[in-house]
Amino acid sequence: LKVAVLMGGISSEREISLESGSTVAGSLAEAGLDVVEFDVAPDRLSILDDESVDVFFPILHGEWGEDGQLQQILTDRGLCFTGSGPDASRIAMDKVACKKAVESKTDVPLAGHVELTSDTGEDDVRNMLASMGDKFVVKPPLQGSSVGVTVVQGLDSACRCALKTLAEYGNCMVEKFISGRELTVAVLDGQALPIIEIRSKTGFYDFNAKYVDNATEYLFDTIADQALVSRISDMALQCFDAVGCRHWGRIDFILSEDGTPYFLEINTLPGFTSHSLVPMAARKAGISAPELCTRIVEAAIR
Ligand code: DAL
Ligand code: MG
Repeated sequence: LKVAVLMGGISSEREISLESGSTVAGSLAEAGLDVVEFDVAPDRLSILDDESVDVFFPILHGEWGEDGQLQQILTDRGLCFTGSGPDASRIAMDKVACKKAVESKTDVPLAGHVELTSDTGEDDVRNMLASMGDKFVVKPPLQGSSVGVTVVQGLDSACRCALKTLAEYGNCMVEKFISGRELTVAVLDGQALPIIEIRSKTGFYDFNAKYVDNATEYLFDTIADQALVSRISDMALQCFDAVGCRHWGRIDFILSEDGTPYFLEINTLPGFTSHSLVPMAARKAGISAPELCTRIVEAAIR
Protein backbone atom coordinates (compact mmCIF):
# COMPACT_ATOMS: atom_id res chain seq x y z
CA LEU A 1 0.00 0.00 0.00
CA LYS A 2 1.41 3.38 -0.97
CA VAL A 3 0.61 6.36 1.22
CA ALA A 4 1.40 9.99 0.40
CA VAL A 5 1.82 12.13 3.51
CA LEU A 6 0.72 15.66 2.69
CA MET A 7 2.35 18.30 4.88
CA GLY A 8 3.53 21.89 5.04
CA GLY A 9 0.96 24.19 3.53
CA ILE A 10 0.64 27.94 3.84
CA SER A 11 -0.72 28.59 7.33
CA SER A 12 0.86 30.02 10.46
CA GLU A 13 1.30 26.39 11.57
CA ARG A 14 3.39 25.37 8.55
CA GLU A 15 6.51 24.55 10.55
CA ILE A 16 4.52 22.42 12.99
CA SER A 17 3.01 20.54 10.07
CA LEU A 18 6.43 19.75 8.59
CA GLU A 19 7.42 18.25 11.92
CA SER A 20 4.12 16.37 12.25
CA GLY A 21 4.46 15.12 8.67
CA SER A 22 7.90 13.73 9.12
CA THR A 23 6.78 11.86 12.27
CA VAL A 24 3.76 10.41 10.46
CA ALA A 25 5.83 9.43 7.42
CA GLY A 26 8.50 7.83 9.63
CA SER A 27 5.84 5.90 11.54
CA LEU A 28 4.13 4.61 8.40
CA ALA A 29 7.49 3.55 6.97
CA GLU A 30 8.28 1.76 10.22
CA ALA A 31 4.98 -0.06 9.86
CA GLY A 32 6.19 -1.33 6.49
CA LEU A 33 4.12 0.85 4.18
CA ASP A 34 5.44 2.47 1.04
CA VAL A 35 5.53 6.18 1.91
CA VAL A 36 6.15 9.43 0.04
CA GLU A 37 6.33 12.81 1.76
CA PHE A 38 5.01 15.81 -0.08
CA ASP A 39 5.06 19.49 0.84
CA VAL A 40 1.72 20.67 -0.57
CA ALA A 41 0.32 24.12 -1.23
CA PRO A 42 -2.55 25.43 -3.36
CA ASP A 43 -0.13 25.81 -6.31
CA ARG A 44 1.83 22.66 -5.54
CA LEU A 45 -0.46 19.69 -5.92
CA SER A 46 1.29 17.50 -8.48
CA ILE A 47 1.35 14.56 -6.06
CA LEU A 48 -2.42 14.26 -6.48
CA ASP A 49 -1.82 13.15 -10.08
CA ASP A 50 0.39 10.26 -8.99
CA GLU A 51 -1.72 7.22 -9.73
CA SER A 52 0.54 4.91 -7.77
CA VAL A 53 -0.64 6.49 -4.50
CA ASP A 54 -3.43 4.52 -2.81
CA VAL A 55 -4.15 6.79 0.17
CA PHE A 56 -3.39 10.43 0.97
CA PHE A 57 -2.66 11.29 4.58
CA PRO A 58 -3.04 15.04 5.11
CA ILE A 59 -1.25 16.29 8.19
CA LEU A 60 -1.51 20.01 7.64
CA HIS A 61 -2.60 22.37 10.36
CA GLY A 62 -4.65 25.52 10.03
CA GLU A 63 -5.72 27.49 7.01
CA TRP A 64 -6.19 25.66 3.70
CA GLY A 65 -4.84 22.27 4.86
CA GLU A 66 -7.11 21.66 7.86
CA ASP A 67 -10.05 23.95 7.14
CA GLY A 68 -11.61 21.81 4.41
CA GLN A 69 -10.12 23.42 1.29
CA LEU A 70 -7.58 20.65 0.68
CA GLN A 71 -10.18 18.05 1.71
CA GLN A 72 -12.57 19.51 -0.90
CA ILE A 73 -9.90 19.16 -3.61
CA LEU A 74 -9.22 15.54 -2.58
CA THR A 75 -12.95 14.79 -2.52
CA ASP A 76 -13.61 16.45 -5.89
CA ARG A 77 -10.86 14.35 -7.44
CA GLY A 78 -12.34 11.18 -5.94
CA LEU A 79 -9.17 10.39 -3.99
CA CYS A 80 -9.01 8.27 -0.84
CA PHE A 81 -7.70 10.26 2.12
CA THR A 82 -7.46 9.99 5.88
CA GLY A 83 -9.19 12.31 8.33
CA SER A 84 -12.33 14.39 8.22
CA GLY A 85 -14.00 15.41 4.98
CA PRO A 86 -14.45 18.98 3.72
CA ASP A 87 -17.63 19.90 5.61
CA ALA A 88 -16.53 18.64 9.03
CA SER A 89 -13.08 20.17 8.53
CA ARG A 90 -14.58 23.55 7.70
CA ILE A 91 -16.85 23.52 10.74
CA ALA A 92 -14.16 22.31 13.13
CA MET A 93 -11.64 24.91 11.99
CA ASP A 94 -14.07 27.70 12.81
CA LYS A 95 -14.36 27.78 16.59
CA VAL A 96 -17.68 29.65 16.40
CA ALA A 97 -19.29 27.29 13.86
CA CYS A 98 -17.95 24.31 15.78
CA LYS A 99 -19.53 25.48 19.03
CA LYS A 100 -22.82 26.01 17.21
CA ALA A 101 -22.73 22.46 15.82
CA VAL A 102 -21.94 20.96 19.20
CA GLU A 103 -24.56 23.09 20.93
CA SER A 104 -27.30 22.15 18.49
CA LYS A 105 -26.63 18.40 18.55
CA THR A 106 -25.44 17.58 22.07
CA ASP A 107 -25.94 18.56 25.70
CA VAL A 108 -22.20 19.07 26.21
CA PRO A 109 -21.57 22.28 28.22
CA LEU A 110 -19.89 25.17 26.39
CA ALA A 111 -18.27 28.36 27.66
CA GLY A 112 -20.40 31.40 26.83
CA HIS A 113 -19.00 33.37 23.91
CA VAL A 114 -19.65 36.26 21.56
CA GLU A 115 -18.55 36.69 18.00
CA LEU A 116 -17.19 39.94 16.57
CA THR A 117 -17.30 40.63 12.87
CA SER A 118 -16.23 43.53 10.68
CA ASP A 119 -19.57 45.22 11.44
CA THR A 120 -19.01 45.17 15.19
CA GLY A 121 -18.26 48.65 16.58
CA GLU A 122 -16.42 49.65 19.73
CA ASP A 123 -19.58 50.28 21.76
CA ASP A 124 -21.08 46.97 20.61
CA VAL A 125 -18.06 45.08 21.93
CA ARG A 126 -18.40 46.64 25.35
CA ASN A 127 -22.12 45.85 25.47
CA MET A 128 -21.54 42.28 24.37
CA LEU A 129 -18.86 41.61 26.97
CA ALA A 130 -20.37 43.49 29.90
CA SER A 131 -22.55 40.57 31.02
CA MET A 132 -19.85 37.91 30.61
CA GLY A 133 -17.85 38.41 33.80
CA ASP A 134 -14.42 39.87 34.34
CA LYS A 135 -12.03 37.42 32.72
CA PHE A 136 -12.04 36.49 29.05
CA VAL A 137 -10.26 34.48 26.38
CA VAL A 138 -9.93 36.35 23.11
CA LYS A 139 -9.39 34.09 20.08
CA PRO A 140 -9.12 34.47 16.33
CA PRO A 141 -11.66 31.71 15.51
CA LEU A 142 -9.84 30.31 12.48
CA GLN A 143 -6.34 29.74 13.90
CA GLY A 144 -4.78 26.74 15.62
CA SER A 145 -1.94 26.10 18.05
CA SER A 146 -3.23 29.00 20.21
CA VAL A 147 -1.95 31.47 17.61
CA GLY A 148 -3.41 34.89 18.51
CA VAL A 149 -5.14 33.65 21.69
CA THR A 150 -5.02 36.00 24.71
CA VAL A 151 -6.34 35.60 28.23
CA VAL A 152 -7.48 39.01 29.52
CA GLN A 153 -8.62 40.34 32.85
CA GLY A 154 -11.08 43.24 33.03
CA LEU A 155 -13.62 44.64 30.61
CA ASP A 156 -11.48 47.50 29.27
CA SER A 157 -8.53 45.29 28.41
CA ALA A 158 -10.85 42.70 26.91
CA CYS A 159 -12.50 45.29 24.64
CA ARG A 160 -9.12 46.61 23.48
CA CYS A 161 -7.76 43.12 22.89
CA ALA A 162 -10.90 42.00 21.03
CA LEU A 163 -10.77 45.00 18.69
CA LYS A 164 -7.06 44.44 18.06
CA THR A 165 -7.64 40.75 17.29
CA LEU A 166 -10.56 41.68 15.05
CA ALA A 167 -8.40 44.18 13.14
CA GLU A 168 -5.57 41.70 12.77
CA TYR A 169 -7.50 38.57 11.80
CA GLY A 170 -10.78 39.93 10.40
CA ASN A 171 -12.89 38.14 13.00
CA CYS A 172 -12.76 37.42 16.68
CA MET A 173 -14.42 35.29 19.31
CA VAL A 174 -14.43 36.21 22.98
CA GLU A 175 -15.15 33.43 25.46
CA LYS A 176 -15.88 33.64 29.12
CA PHE A 177 -12.75 32.42 30.89
CA ILE A 178 -13.38 29.17 32.71
CA SER A 179 -10.97 28.52 35.48
CA GLY A 180 -10.08 24.87 35.65
CA ARG A 181 -7.96 22.03 34.35
CA GLU A 182 -7.04 21.68 30.72
CA LEU A 183 -7.91 18.27 29.26
CA THR A 184 -7.71 16.72 25.85
CA VAL A 185 -9.22 13.56 24.41
CA ALA A 186 -7.87 11.91 21.28
CA VAL A 187 -10.35 9.98 19.17
CA LEU A 188 -9.19 7.08 17.02
CA ASP A 189 -11.66 5.33 14.77
CA GLY A 190 -14.68 5.60 17.07
CA GLN A 191 -12.73 5.10 20.28
CA ALA A 192 -11.73 7.71 22.88
CA LEU A 193 -8.10 7.31 23.99
CA PRO A 194 -6.96 8.01 27.58
CA ILE A 195 -7.56 11.59 28.74
CA ILE A 196 -4.49 13.80 29.05
CA GLU A 197 -4.33 16.67 31.52
CA ILE A 198 -2.02 19.49 30.47
CA ARG A 199 -0.28 21.56 33.11
CA SER A 200 1.77 24.38 31.66
CA LYS A 201 4.08 26.44 33.84
CA THR A 202 2.23 29.66 33.09
CA GLY A 203 -1.22 28.14 33.52
CA PHE A 204 -2.02 28.76 29.85
CA TYR A 205 -1.17 26.20 27.20
CA ASP A 206 -0.05 28.71 24.57
CA PHE A 207 2.15 28.26 21.50
CA ASN A 208 5.31 28.34 23.57
CA ALA A 209 4.02 25.79 26.07
CA LYS A 210 2.89 23.57 23.17
CA TYR A 211 6.09 23.38 21.20
CA VAL A 212 8.97 25.04 22.98
CA ASP A 213 8.67 24.73 26.71
CA ASN A 214 9.74 21.34 27.95
CA ALA A 215 8.38 22.14 31.40
CA THR A 216 4.77 21.60 30.35
CA GLU A 217 3.51 18.47 32.08
CA TYR A 218 1.27 15.92 30.40
CA LEU A 219 -0.45 13.72 32.90
CA PHE A 220 -2.68 10.66 32.74
CA ASP A 221 -5.07 9.26 35.33
CA THR A 222 -5.50 12.60 37.10
CA ILE A 223 -9.27 12.24 37.43
CA ALA A 224 -10.13 9.81 40.18
CA ASP A 225 -13.86 9.75 39.53
CA GLN A 226 -14.26 7.03 36.88
CA ALA A 227 -17.82 8.08 36.10
CA LEU A 228 -16.50 11.53 35.20
CA VAL A 229 -13.75 9.99 33.06
CA SER A 230 -16.37 8.03 31.12
CA ARG A 231 -18.57 11.10 30.80
CA ILE A 232 -15.76 13.21 29.33
CA SER A 233 -14.72 10.41 26.94
CA ASP A 234 -18.32 10.04 25.83
CA MET A 235 -18.66 13.80 25.37
CA ALA A 236 -15.58 13.78 23.13
CA LEU A 237 -17.19 11.16 20.89
CA GLN A 238 -20.46 13.10 20.84
CA CYS A 239 -18.69 16.31 19.79
CA PHE A 240 -16.72 14.43 17.14
CA ASP A 241 -19.94 12.99 15.71
CA ALA A 242 -21.88 16.26 16.01
CA VAL A 243 -19.41 17.91 13.65
CA GLY A 244 -19.33 14.86 11.36
CA CYS A 245 -15.64 14.09 11.84
CA ARG A 246 -14.00 10.86 10.65
CA HIS A 247 -11.09 8.55 11.51
CA TRP A 248 -9.22 10.62 14.09
CA GLY A 249 -9.04 13.94 15.87
CA ARG A 250 -8.59 15.59 19.22
CA ILE A 251 -11.15 17.33 21.41
CA ASP A 252 -10.12 19.90 24.00
CA PHE A 253 -12.00 20.57 27.25
CA ILE A 254 -11.69 22.62 30.40
CA LEU A 255 -12.75 20.84 33.58
CA SER A 256 -14.04 23.67 35.75
CA GLU A 257 -13.38 23.91 39.45
CA ASP A 258 -16.91 22.66 40.16
CA GLY A 259 -16.24 19.53 38.08
CA THR A 260 -18.09 20.45 34.88
CA PRO A 261 -16.30 19.59 31.62
CA TYR A 262 -16.67 22.39 29.06
CA PHE A 263 -16.05 21.70 25.38
CA LEU A 264 -13.54 24.08 23.80
CA GLU A 265 -12.74 22.88 20.30
CA ILE A 266 -12.05 20.04 17.91
CA ASN A 267 -8.81 19.64 16.00
CA THR A 268 -9.38 17.51 12.90
CA LEU A 269 -5.65 17.35 12.10
CA PRO A 270 -3.99 17.58 15.48
CA GLY A 271 -0.26 17.94 15.91
CA PHE A 272 1.93 14.86 15.52
CA THR A 273 5.26 16.22 16.71
CA SER A 274 7.41 14.74 19.46
CA HIS A 275 5.53 17.04 21.90
CA SER A 276 2.10 16.18 20.56
CA LEU A 277 -0.84 14.79 22.43
CA VAL A 278 -2.49 12.22 20.16
CA PRO A 279 0.61 10.00 19.85
CA MET A 280 1.05 10.34 23.62
CA ALA A 281 -2.51 9.23 24.36
CA ALA A 282 -2.18 6.34 21.92
CA ARG A 283 1.03 5.20 23.58
CA LYS A 284 -0.77 5.21 26.94
CA ALA A 285 -3.41 2.93 25.37
CA GLY A 286 -0.67 0.58 24.18
CA ILE A 287 -0.84 1.80 20.59
CA SER A 288 2.54 2.68 19.07
CA ALA A 289 2.91 5.53 16.57
CA PRO A 290 3.29 3.10 13.63
CA GLU A 291 0.13 1.28 14.73
CA LEU A 292 -1.73 4.56 15.26
CA CYS A 293 -0.89 5.80 11.76
CA THR A 294 -1.71 2.42 10.23
CA ARG A 295 -5.09 2.35 11.96
CA ILE A 296 -5.88 5.80 10.59
CA VAL A 297 -5.02 4.59 7.08
CA GLU A 298 -7.09 1.42 7.58
CA ALA A 299 -10.08 3.49 8.66
CA ALA A 300 -9.81 5.46 5.41
CA ILE A 301 -9.64 2.42 3.08
CA ARG A 302 -12.25 0.37 4.88
N1 DAL B 1 -3.31 22.85 15.88
C1 DAL B 1 -2.33 22.02 16.52
C2 DAL B 1 -1.36 21.47 15.55
C3 DAL B 1 -2.97 20.96 17.34
O1 DAL B 1 -4.15 20.97 17.46
O2 DAL B 1 -2.27 20.07 17.83
MG1 MG C 1 -7.12 23.99 17.47
